This record gives sequence, C-alpha cells and structure tokens, in this order.
Amino acid sequence: MCLSPLIEKLQSAHDLTDTELLAFLTEPQDEAALFAAADAERRKWYGDAVYLRGLIEFTNYCKNNCYYCGIRAGNPHAERYRLTDTQILECCAQGYALGYRTFVLQGGEDPYYTDDKICALVSAIAAKYPDCRITLSIGEKSRESYQRYYDAGARRYLLRHETASPEHYRKLHPECMTLENRKRCLRDLQAIGYQVGSGFMIGSPGQTPENLLADIRFLQNLQPAMIGVGPYITHSETPFADQMSGDLHFSLKIIALLRLMFPKSLIPATTAFGSMHPQGRELALKAGSNVMMPNLSPTEVRKLYDLYENKICVGEEAAQSFRSLTARIQAAGYRIVSDVGDSLVTKST
Ligand code: 5AD
Repeated sequence: MCLSPLIEKLQSAHDLTDTELLAFLTEPQDEAALFAAADAERRKWYGDAVYLRGLIEFTNYCKNNCYYCGIRAGNPHAERYRLTDTQILECCAQGYALGYRTFVLQGGEDPYYTDDKICALVSAIAAKYPDCRITLSIGEKSRESYQRYYDAGARRYLLRHETASPEHYRKLHPECMTLENRKRCLRDLQAIGYQVGSGFMIGSPGQTPENLLADIRFLQNLQPAMIGVGPYITHSETPFADQMSGDLHFSLKIIALLRLMFPKSLIPATTAFGSMHPQGRELALKAGSNVMMPNLSPTEVRKLYDLYENKICVGEEAAQSFRSLTARIQAAGYRIVSDVGDSLVTKST
C-alpha cells in the first residue's frame, strides 16, 4: 500500500509538527489507508478486544449552562429526573449479570448529590462488586471532594476538557466557568491516582483547526488513560440551535489520528457517533476505537438524558441492547471482552 507521508510519519513517530498536523486536519486524506493504519495500531496493543463500560445516567439536573448541551440549567423544557439509589444498584445488578465490569455513574452537576451521597453510593457499589471498577463523571469538584470519592472506591473519572483554547472555551461556556478550573480538576484527579478520561467535541461551534491542534497538544501533555471524542450534535433548546452539527467523516478522521498519536489509549466509540449514523459506532471501531459505553439506565429515563438531538438507544432494555451490540461488534470484526479493561497508558506523575 502506498501511504501518504503524513500517515507514514504518524505510524512511525506517533507525532507530527504543528504545520504537519494542521495540514493533516485541513487536507483530504486517503480514508481507507488512514483507517487501516489506525486499526493495525490498535490491534498491536489491544488486539480485537472491545471493552465495555456500563453507563448509568443517574441525574439530568445540572447547575451549569454550557451553550451546547441539552440538559443545561437554562433549558426549561428539559424534563428532570434523578434515579434512586435502589434504581442505580439495580442497573449495576443487571449490568453485572450481562458481564459488565465497569460502571460509569454520569450526571449533570446536580447539587442534590452532596459528597456524602456520592460517597455512600460509591461505597455501596464497591462493597457489592469488588471485582468491578467504578467510574464517576459528575463534573468539576474540589480536590477534597475528588479525594473523598476515591477513598470511597472510585478509581476512574471522565471529564472532557471540551476545548483547550481559552477563547474557544469562552464561546462555548458562560463566564462563571473557566478552562483553568477544568484543567485544575484534571490535574487533581491524576494526582490523586484516578485513571482519567478527557476529550472534546468535534465540530463544536466556532472550532478551528488551530483549536483542534491545541486539544491534541493538551492531551499529549495530560496523557489521559482514555480519550473521549464525538461529533458535536446541535440541540434545538440551546443558544446554538441554529449552528451546524459536526461532520461524521471528519470525526472518524480524528479518531484515527488519535489512535496513531496515542497508540495505548482507550478511545470509546461514543454514542454521538451512533446518533449521527446507524453504523456510526462500528465505523469508529474500524477507525481505531476500542471501547463502548452502552446505556444501563432504566428505559423510562433514557430519552430524558437529552444532551443532543436524536440520541440513540433510548428505547432498548440493557439486555436487549447488549445482545444486539455483541452481534454488531462481531460483525465489525471485533470481540467484546468481559473485563475491567484497564488502559495501557501509565502516566508517571
Ligand atoms: N453534542 C455532542 N456532544 C455533547 N456533549 C454535550 N452536549 C453535546 C452535544 N450537543 C458532550 C460533552 C460532555 C459529554 C458528556 O457530552 O462533551 O462532556
């Protein structure tokens, strides 16, 4: 196969200069060759394994007003819910029976959930499932809070940086939120010992190739265990209602780029890919992704966790979606692994 010089360099050096990266981002690439290179890199480290994380969206209350997000505090039409502890534990029980060994508790920044409540929940899950990993994804907190969750048994934390460019960050978030605090959170989490996942949306309003370059440089510095990205998808009840969604093929190109630049990372085939295209998540797997995060939340609340329009899997039972997912992953040429699925990235802090 005749590879372009940029793809060749990505394969051998796992890095590009700023000029090369901007050229890679802005010029068309041979998609088939790029995805094949990324797939080969992923197989070198992870084989055909796809790790699963059972996602429990336990509250859609949020105190923040991010301009892109459907569950922002300022959306009066969002129907709010909170799962009870019993419901959350029931999600874990169902997930465990299906083979999930990681539970991701994700929610808006909901002040109802005090640190005491989160710690009680984490301890209860940790006591019941000592062979599982507990991941939290509940936003920006103090270092003390993060430490308390860790002491209760949480070992992973997902917090996308969203954009590493201060001026772009300002376009996406209200004044009271800062990129500095977001970064502080990520550093605190790593210092405590969490396996951290970060990432960004692709094609968010106002995003430039230079912003993406900054995102990649930021991630190179952070060396997170997981990098979560997905196309931005417009939501009609946000200030960005009239903005365009991100592009599927460009987003897949970013997945492949990330795999080649961060060979050992966990890179999920995110729900946003599946929501943009019926085969979106399989396409992401073939472009270098190696994790999926199926929804374990009760069916009746699925559609309410409405980050963006046409989010998938709103009607499926956990068991039903697990069966169809297994078949789809196999058909794409990969294999689900029932395992905690630790990242091969080991960051020395
Ligand atoms: N389109 C795509 N992704 C979104 N997120 C929030 N709103 C949107 C949207 N409109 C992403 C953010 C957040 C994650 C949970 O969902 O990156 O970190």
